[in-house]
Amino acid sequence: MADSPAHAVNAKLEINGTSVSYPIMKGSTGPDVVDIRKLFADTGAFTYDPGYKSTASCESALTYIDGDEGILLHRGYPIGQLAEHSSFMEVCYLLLNGELPKQAELEEFSYTISRHTMLHEQLATFYRGFRRDAHPMAIMCGVVGALSAFYHDSTDISDPEHRKISSHRLIAKMPTIAAMAYKYSVGQPFLYPKNDLSYTANFMRMTFGVPAEDYEVHPAVEKAMDRIFILHADHEQNASTSTVRLAGSSGANPFACIAAGIACLWGPAHGGANEAALNMLHEIGTPDRIKHYIERAKDKNDPFRLMGFGHRVYKNYDPRATVMQKTVREVFDALQVKDPVFETALQLEEIALSDDYFREKKLFPNVDFYSGIILSAIGFPTTMFTALFALARTVGWVAQWNEMISDPAQVIGRPRQLYTGPTERDYVPVEER
Ligand code: SDX
Repeated sequence: MADSPAHAVNAKLEINGTSVSYPIMKGSTGPDVVDIRKLFADTGAFTYDPGYKSTASCESALTYIDGDEGILLHRGYPIGQLAEHSSFMEVCYLLLNGELPKQAELEEFSYTISRHTMLHEQLATFYRGFRRDAHPMAIMCGVVGALSAFYHDSTDISDPEHRKISSHRLIAKMPTIAAMAYKYSVGQPFLYPKNDLSYTANFMRMTFGVPAEDYEVHPAVEKAMDRIFILHADHEQNASTSTVRLAGSSGANPFACIAAGIACLWGPAHGGANEAALNMLHEIGTPDRIKHYIERAKDKNDPFRLMGFGHRVYKNYDPRATVMQKTVREVFDALQVKDPVFETALQLEEIALSDDYFREKKLFPNVDFYSGIILSAIGFPTTMFTALFALARTVGWVAQWNEMISDPAQVIGRPRQLYTGPTERDYVPVEER
């Protein structure tokens, strides 16, 4: 962890006649924070911030987002540059180690990851316990949580070596687990990983290959998938990352913590939005129906929301959506496909962004708006979309978990509450009620 954040001035607060002041801490960039750790002890009052819209839960050096400017940096490197010039393996190394690797370091890291891609053979039978139509995210939650039953040799989280091995195992095995979830759903045999393939090509082959013939990964598709993994790698203290941190703060083993993150990511307000966004675009169907759905999204009495639009932090265009839209065109050209749903998405974006409701609320397309169109063109069913998000986000979850566990100031997360229930009262025997 960097030197403890500097603070120069204090924030003053008057509560119930008590005047207190707390240090304002500055990071390397971004909003300052008020260190209120002594507030309850000094005043007997809590802060109140459901959804944590004004709360920094931790100090981190991994990812920085400027929501107003639409900026996303991983260890200082802009997401657009990483998407253009880097690889997912290199971004994994960067997030875990803090610097871009030299060629030899990258080769060693990629070799290490590739040697952890196989699953314990008994886990293959674990899949048989699921119905064939089980949602891949249900399988991911179950199988990743079950990994703790197989790797007792790397769950001592106080041991940096154990943390490193379990981190590598999780990053390496997620593609195998996700591919097996897909194979199980379509009744095809599982394929073992091949160590001579890249991380992403290995995943593509395990997903779409069959034992009956060789599988050649289309280079443009491999590049697009690798870029999609980069775009999903980490994203500051989002809901699933905060879930992983909270689970990890109790000392739970890393496999259990990542399973908790997968469960949280599944929600349609979070990682489940990519599946929901494509389903929405298919429901809209043709561009002439867009206006009707825009009006529904604006109607307070209608629970319908434009999936893939809006973001807690971005009040500008999500820089990942920009790259994603460009990638749609590249994949369509490479595969010679045309999907009218892309035209519907482009027109929906144009109409929404010219509408006062969306402009005033600063609702722009997010990472989930275009991703489903690409994944569908490549051949993934919509039910696999969030599993792919989980695959890519595992490195972010693992990096954030490592950062938290190795922070000497780390304590168990335990928020308080504003209690609005009944005050103390005596028990009433049933015959007197
Ligand atoms: C991800 O946090 C991360 O970093 C997440 C993520 C990551 O990489 O980890 O970026 C990935 O989860 C992206 C977001 C994917 N979710 C969706 O696309 C689902 C649709 N979007 C929303 O449900 C919503 O925008 C959220 C959940 C993303 C953000 O919700 P907030 O910040 O709590 O905002 P809000 O729900 O309070 O909305 C503010 C206003 C509301 O109107 P008012 O009550 O102020 O009148 O905007 C409206 C909302 O009704 N609104 C929408 C809308 N999103 C917000 N109206 C229509 N369509 C939408 N999509």
